[in-house]
Amino acid sequence: MIGRLNHVAIAVKDLAAATAIYRDTLGAEVSEPLPQPAHGVTVVFVQLPNTKIELLEPLGENSTIAGFVEKNPAGGIHHVCYEVEDIIAARDKLKADGARVLGNGEPKIGAHGKPVLFLHPKDFCGTLVEIEQV
Ligand code: CO
Repeated sequence: MIGRLNHVAIAVKDLAAATAIYRDTLGAEVSEPLPQPAHGVTVVFVQLPNTKIELLEPLGENSTIAGFVEKNPAGGIHHVCYEVEDIIAARDKLKADGARVLGNGEPKIGAHGKPVLFLHPKDFCGTLVEIEQV
């Protein structure tokens, strides 16, 4: 059901420092920071030949990643995102298999303007999973 790895999201306290590591030390192509108030994050996209890394910094009072960054002051992998062809069909199959879909279970428009859902980490090997319809 899942297709390509769309991105790996890494949450950090200091987006400028993280961007410099990816740009200068690792020699990757990085975007400008993009504030996404609806998601409570500022994002830098790191474009790799086969996938993307998204560097996330908390934005605003109610950022969903604020707690994660508090617990992981050096930063850490926050979630992985897999592509699916039909997010409703994917959701229904996952729910039928007993997986927990976060939020109200309805897809939201994610960082790339495409519908996304998040799945409970306890159901997926301790990893927060995002699925994105492409
Ligand atoms: Co994501």
